Amino acid sequence: MPEFPRGFRWGAATAAFQIEGATTADGRGPSIWDTFTAEPGRVIDGSNALVAADSYRRHHDDVDLLAELGATDYRFSISWPRVQPGGSGPANVAGLDHYERVVDALAEAGIAPLATLYHWDLPQPLEDAGGWLVRDTAERYAEYVGLVLDRLGDRVGRWITLNEPAMTTLEGYALGTQAPGRTLMLGALPTVHHQLLGHGLAVAAIRAASGTAEVGITNNHTLVVPASDDPGDLVAAGAFDVVYNRIFVDPLLTGAYPDLSAFGLESFPGLESGDLGVIAAPLDFYGVNSYNPTYVAAPAEGSEFALAGLPFEPAAPPAGTPVTGFDWPVVPEAFAELLVGLRRDYGDALPPIVITENGASYADEVVPGGNGGRSVHDHERIAYLDGHVRAVADAIGRGVDVRGYFVWSLVDNFEWAQGYTQRFGLVHVDFETGERTRKDSFDWYRRVIAEQRG
Ligand code: BGC
Repeated sequence: MPEFPRGFRWGAATAAFQIEGATTADGRGPSIWDTFTAEPGRVIDGSNALVAADSYRRHHDDVDLLAELGATDYRFSISWPRVQPGGSGPANVAGLDHYERVVDALAEAGIAPLATLYHWDLPQPLEDAGGWLVRDTAERYAEYVGLVLDRLGDRVGRWITLNEPAMTTLEGYALGTQAPGRTLMLGALPTVHHQLLGHGLAVAAIRAASGTAEVGITNNHTLVVPASDDPGDLVAAGAFDVVYNRIFVDPLLTGAYPDLSAFGLESFPGLESGDLGVIAAPLDFYGVNSYNPTYVAAPAEGSEFALAGLPFEPAAPPAGTPVTGFDWPVVPEAFAELLVGLRRDYGDALPPIVITENGASYADEVVPGGNGGRSVHDHERIAYLDGHVRAVADAIGRGVDVRGYFVWSLVDNFEWAQGYTQRFGLVHVDFETGERTRKDSFDWYRRVIAEQRG
């Protein structure tokens, strides 16, 4: 493994709804994901997150695992419906107590917290009032962020405002494959603007509460690869890049939305004067989640994409490309290209990057062996992670300022609409008993971190 810069951060990531369980404990209110998972047919295996990895109760186990890993940092998320069960009003003290316990346990273990303030669990009452389609949700969000900062601002030094607004817009409101399950297609676009506005207002709230806090956002990025050199495919790839990557990053780093004329739009839905200044507030770091490149072609005549008015459709990766359990293509070089491309496209406007998620799901099996009598030989995950960590080193060597890398995920967890069918953890979780078993990838990552930290 190449040597990383001194001070590089090595961590693992999780999200509240995916690991905590205890969905009614200590006054937590319902979120859109509680509603979504209760609707038949929404989650592939019919499961829910009532228990998940049981981390609300077992957070000490998770911190022990991080300490054993030698992680410098832990990225976890704070659940809005634990802090404000109805999405507005005063803080629920018992909900905040939980995160104080997590943060204190991390401090005792010498692990720095990187707290995500929103990882998709919108309080249900706010969805009932219009969710991210309405501007008021941005204001409500900033108010919630202020409450969290009042309580934890003295001991959490780094904050991520939103996790992957792209997935909320595209899967949650456009396609309906994730909560809240709306199928609005281009009608989902106001959710882009209201999330980014919420982000900007949250940055201001964090800065007002703490003079030293570092703030960033996490976007999901994919390297968009045209299926061929055909001009139609090139145009299609450009349009996909706009809707997946650029509408979520351009306003943050350049203060403007990209041209949406390929989608028949002249201005961005929801945009009001002064908003872009709020959205483009300076950031201390830029969080990148990335898993795989996306291959894109011009839509075939009469295809469902063409009929829906979309100027692109997905294409297959080159024959022989390995895939993960999700069928996502494994192409580490594409990860390096993505990072180099961000630097090329945004130049000095791009803050230092932190890779806030990267990882792979495979059908892991527990077999007898190892120290605790149980092992998981996840060689494919090790190959994936090894390739992608090397790709980060490659990008750094090519001039990209990357300051940290977080594996998704510390533990197997509730994989949204895929329920428990996809395992991403460095640690296997038995969802019947909550028992944790370190996978071989855990040992691999522990060795990488030890070597890099000297
Ligand atoms: C999300 C995680 C999710 C992971 C794997 C990211 O889009 O932030 O919550 O589990 O990808 O699908």
